[in-house]
Amino acid sequence: MDKVPGSSIVIRDVESAGELREVEELQKQIWGLPDLDVVPLTQMIAARTAGGVLIGAFDGEVMVGFAYGFVGMEDGKPAHHSHMLAVLPEYRNLDLGRRLKLEQRDRVLDQGIELMTWTFDPLQSLNAHFNFNKLGVISDRYFIDFYGRDATSFLHRNGTDRLWVSWMLTSARVGDRAAGKGGAGEFPEAAPLVELSEDDSPLSGDMKEALSSSAAYIEIPMNIGEIEKRDFDLAAEWRAATRNAFTQAIGAGYLVKEFFVRGGGTRRRGAYLLVPKGIGGDLA
Ligand SMILES: CC(C)(COP(=O)(O)OP(=O)(O)OC[C@H]1O[C@@H](n2cnc3c(N)ncnc32)[C@H](O)[C@@H]1OP(=O)(O)O)[C@@H](O)C(=O)NCCC(=O)NCCS
Repeated sequence: MDKVPGSSIVIRDVESAGELREVEELQKQIWGLPDLDVVPLTQMIAARTAGGVLIGAFDGEVMVGFAYGFVGMEDGKPAHHSHMLAVLPEYRNLDLGRRLKLEQRDRVLDQGIELMTWTFDPLQSLNAHFNFNKLGVISDRYFIDFYGRDATSFLHRNGTDRLWVSWMLTSARVGDRAAGKGGAGEFPEAAPLVELSEDDSPLSGDMKEALSSSAAYIEIPMNIGEIEKRDFDLAAEWRAATRNAFTQAIGAGYLVKEFFVRGGGTRRRGAYLLVPKGIGGDLA
């Protein structure tokens, strides 16, 4: 397929029952979900009517991506929990993911809600870059096997650990990132919690030292999907090492603030930067 220009794609509400069925189909196509795990039309209609948001990216009549979320509560205040965001593979890197999030943000702000949350697998470098760099989220919650151990999608073979991220919709940070300004900047002086070693395996740092420093980092490989296919035990080692580092650091009061892509060639890797809350870690 020739790539269509992203600008010709329209972001708008998902309207008819036929379009809602397309959202069900996209879930199966993108995450490989079995029927029972697909969020059905009835639930989407109920959540949307109760204040949720369901928008699609349309190439003419064809839906090529969507964002779906519902109203939740966070610390006693209304928040929007974004449950799904997806763009068909042949339409990726056209800025549609970002445009869907910005439209979702506008809808939620119009409701007077200032916080959006969602979850993602912290071993997925693309999602980490998208969430932290392009959108400006932060995170101080890590869930072990959030959807259980036996979730069926092909994305879930290595467990379902998730970072719960907060997108503070009215913050200067989010405004800047959404406008394509700012960004993580230079990688600062920081102590390693987990590093990518020469043989691609995770190397754990000195936890005590890292968690008494003003900044710590957790590296991840850029290609966890490939590693899962080639050497599942290695992928499981990455899950165990990063789970241990995130849970200990967050438990010790650190906040996940940025994601960097470091190095080049075979040494290209991702790195989450964590800082103690209250010392450069509060981002209202
Ligand atoms: C996440 C997703 C919605 C992004 O959609 P998209 O339309 O491609 O998003 P955008 O074009 O706005 O941005 C994609 C960014 O990821 C970057 N990217 C692409 N592949 C990457 C990789 N392997 N590692 C790191 N970054 C990557 C792109 O370069 C781009 O960033 P840039 O603008 O700074 O260059 C899409 O990849 C998707 O549907 N994934 C499967 C479903 C999923 O994981 N959903 C959960 C999202 S939290």
